[in-house]
Amino acid sequence: MTVEATPPATSSTEPKFYYPPQALVENSNIMAYAREKGFDNVDDLYVWTIEHAEQFWSEMATRYLDWFQPWDQVLDASEAPFYKWFTGGKTNIVHNAVDRHANGANRDKVAIIFESEQGETTNYTYAELAREVNRFANVLKAQGVQQGDRVTIYLSRVPQLLFAMLAVTKIGAMHSVVYGGFSTDALHSRIMDAQSKVLITGDGGWMNNKIVELKKITDEAVERSEGVVETVIVFKRTDHDVPMKAGRDLWWHELEAQPGMDEPCATEQMDAEDPLFMLYTSGTTGSPKGLVHTCGGYQVQVAATLSFVFDIKPDDIYWCAADPGWITGHSYIVYGPLILGATEVIYEGAPSYPSPARWWSIVEKYKVSILYTAPTAIRGLMRYGEEHPTKHDLSSLRLLGSVGEPINPEAWRWYHRVIGHGNCPIMDTWWQTETGAFMITPNPTTPLKPGSGTKPFLGIECDVLNEEGLPASESDDGLLVIKKPWPSMLRTIYGDPKRYVQQYWTRLPGFYTAGDAARKDADGYYWVIGRIDDVIKVSGYRLGTAEVESALVSHPAVAEAAAIGLPHEVKGNAIHTYVILRQGYEGSDALADELRKHVGKELGPIARPETVSFVPGLPKTRSGKIMRRVLKARALGLPEGDLSTLEA
Ligand code: WT7
Repeated sequence: MTVEATPPATSSTEPKFYYPPQALVENSNIMAYAREKGFDNVDDLYVWTIEHAEQFWSEMATRYLDWFQPWDQVLDASEAPFYKWFTGGKTNIVHNAVDRHANGANRDKVAIIFESEQGETTNYTYAELAREVNRFANVLKAQGVQQGDRVTIYLSRVPQLLFAMLAVTKIGAMHSVVYGGFSTDALHSRIMDAQSKVLITGDGGWMNNKIVELKKITDEAVERSEGVVETVIVFKRTDHDVPMKAGRDLWWHELEAQPGMDEPCATEQMDAEDPLFMLYTSGTTGSPKGLVHTCGGYQVQVAATLSFVFDIKPDDIYWCAADPGWITGHSYIVYGPLILGATEVIYEGAPSYPSPARWWSIVEKYKVSILYTAPTAIRGLMRYGEEHPTKHDLSSLRLLGSVGEPINPEAWRWYHRVIGHGNCPIMDTWWQTETGAFMITPNPTTPLKPGSGTKPFLGIECDVLNEEGLPASESDDGLLVIKKPWPSMLRTIYGDPKRYVQQYWTRLPGFYTAGDAARKDADGYYWVIGRIDDVIKVSGYRLGTAEVESALVSHPAVAEAAAIGLPHEVKGNAIHTYVILRQGYEGSDALADELRKHVGKELGPIARPETVSFVPGLPKTRSGKIMRRVLKARALGLPEGDLSTLEA
């Protein structure tokens, strides 16, 4: 099996485990639940949840959520792998995340602390949040948005992104959020697949003191989309001049000022299995997959995992530094923290603006107690040295988190020692856009090993299997599988149920294959090694080789292209590309640079290749498939492996 890396051997001076502070363990939400169930440790609780999975999940559903109508059945497996959860139940995630707080004890509690890149703070209480969501929901209705419609949202990291998402789900429509760092082609393909009639964007967004031209990119993407989008709602953030197309483009603030928009807007009563949202992610082909999550099970697992892993308490200040445009943001910025009635920080801009101390000044300023981020950000900030974090008082922190890719032990230890002052356990959470919520993760009671996500969450059964479907030995890599359905699982790929089955449920029949290689050690701890498909994790972002290749081929100079990922110190992996030019074109540094920029413009800056090499040919199988592993092996100076299918 081709893998990205191997788990580090623990050196003799290294402690085997990092133990959590005893007070944290004793007072943790998960221990409280363990004791309620008659256990004095979480391992025994885990065993019980596996033996009583449906009971466990239904307890979570009532512990954390209100339902308009209770469910008849916890899990319906009659059409597996199209599993259904909490069937017959009626709910709306906005009731749980917003309405009940605004009408209850959390009314005047701050929900969102927004810090702009320029440093201004805007707070929204739960009552104010409810007003914003209500008003924008009325706007959407007035624009004709109905239950089941797909609304594309393309905004920067501003509170209005949350208001828009919550307004869409309040009225029973589906949002399809496209990350604000993506560009024309990525936005265009997602609009087309979702067939969104309404799109919400901004006149721009602030990043590194520069304007991200959201509206300009939107215009290009919408124009390519041949009349699919009828209405574009534009939030004014930067106030620089943007063209507004008559009959299509409308200002957010003008729509909200229309009469009647402050009237109460009903929160729709949804079936547990009605679609909640779709979110695109890269797979093995050029077209991104619209993963569909549903109204009931998703919120159950998101709420339970956030409470038990990040241990949210009423006075915590929680900060997940991801972008709401990714699943991390959907689950653990937008929905999870609000369901739990938490106070959270949202920071608009770049981590290094105006200095690499920006994040640490935010932690100090708002007394952040829980910080959740990605290994690439940690490695990036680590490079600037310890003087930035040590200038700031980080003593408010009690728990840290990591997500998106394996965290290398060096970055783990720096994060633990310098940011967490040696006593904040790191929750290294393994999950995917597909899983909706944490699957393999420590909790505050878990002894940690740097680089391991430790063990499956309560109620979750995983394993590492070889190609024959048998458990891999401790020293062997294998395929990471999930053995039983879970409430926040994806339900299908939008418009392509066959691809859902084929992609996730056929490699090892009966099991969900995640597309990751992993190892399980003698303590039962999981070590995720990396992707085994044509997905490259660049700074934790998931990009398909095929997407990069098709962006390259859309340039007139390019006949054929191949993209691979190679290790990179900060980004984890970086994209390297090989290009065969069309006749009449000559390879040069200038052309290589132009091609890199072209990919950046089409897909977004994160997809811009590190290198473009001009080659006369590409290694292919007899059926014409590019053998990326051969390119990779060559680039790394490794043996090229089995070449029997290589074209002569
Ligand atoms: C892939 C999923 C889940 C939100 C962000 C990414 C990798 C994710 C970890 C981790 C090792 C990780 C896997 C996974 N991954 N978290 N803690 N340790 N690898 O979501 O874009 O759907 O990517 O990210 O390869 O399959 P995503």
